[in-house]
Amino acid sequence: MKILVTGAKGQLGYDVVKEGEKRGFVMIGSDVGDCDLRDEAAVHKIVNSVRPDIVIHCAAYTAVDQAEREQELCYDVNVNGTKYVAAAAAAVGAKLIYISTDYVFDGTGDAPHSVEEVKNPVNYYGLTKSLGEDAVMAALERCFIVRISWVFGSNGNNFVKTMARLGREKEELSVVSDQIGAPTYTPDLAALILDMAATEKYGVYHAANSGFCSWYDFAVKIMELSGLTAKVKPILTKDYPTAAARPRNSRLDQTKLKKNGFSVLPPWEDALRRYLTVLK
Ligand SMILES: NC(=O)c1ccc[n+]([C@@H]2O[C@H](COP(=O)([O-])OP(=O)(O)OC[C@H]3O[C@@H](n4cnc5c(N)ncnc54)[C@H](OP(=O)(O)O)[C@@H]3O)[C@@H](O)[C@H]2O)c1
Repeated sequence: MKILVTGAKGQLGYDVVKEGEKRGFVMIGSDVGDCDLRDEAAVHKIVNSVRPDIVIHCAAYTAVDQAEREQELCYDVNVNGTKYVAAAAAAVGAKLIYISTDYVFDGTGDAPHSVEEVKNPVNYYGLTKSLGEDAVMAALERCFIVRISWVFGSNGNNFVKTMARLGREKEELSVVSDQIGAPTYTPDLAALILDMAATEKYGVYHAANSGFCSWYDFAVKIMELSGLTAKVKPILTKDYPTAAARPRNSRLDQTKLKKNGFSVLPPWEDALRRYLTVLK
């Protein structure tokens, strides 16, 4: 099986390539240096030359706050780029796996969002990811949309690395306690994505490590498991203003994964423990 991975230098793409190689697949990783997704001809060129069986589209403009003032660039990568990837995959008869986000939801209520729930993004990045989903579904039937949340992995910056650094530098940190969701560890998710790739069970899925927490709970656990003594103070979203609004409830209902015979990812605390061991 030959698999083309976009965003191969990002957190998730990096681990998807690694996991595929471990399974003996031919993995071709691409990133902005060899193919800028805003360039339609370049996207068709790489897909036509690789002729993959599957495209795993991990690349995206992911600077959520910056996106509010760089809307054109964000749209170009996340909507137009995704349209080009989807059209190119369809043209060579490849399946497509598109990675999406909890930010397609407005985050009201406390219950996990189901895959059928009507989307209502609260920020510009979320809107472009949602339009990217629509573009994929319009271009080909053999597609998976996998919505994930709160990503952390070895290859890039994330909340865990930031908290561990701040925990070493400061005696006290303030972290929002009124946004809940589930962290997603990229090696765990990469394994699930490659399991999906081997099937024809197309559709929209939600995936994250099991359980849920607030950013505050997550930070407390990071300090505890890292042996750091910095005190974590809970604060409210209204006291931590950001350029882009965040959904208050990012929980994702994963019933569909189980129903279709896929394994739900291990508990987030277990994933965090493994990640901190790798970081050491
Ligand atoms: N991070 C999260 O918490 C989170 C949560 C939910 C969903 N997601 C989704 O999960 C996927 C993977 O996220 P991630 O955290 O692995 O992202 P990431 O680390 O930011 O990686 C994204 C990759 O895409 C590349 N890219 C950006 N613009 C491009 C362009 N014009 N052409 C080609 N490549 C381009 C980036 O290159 P540069 O670094 O050089 O720009 C980077 O290597 C994304 O689709 C994201 O929307 C992420």
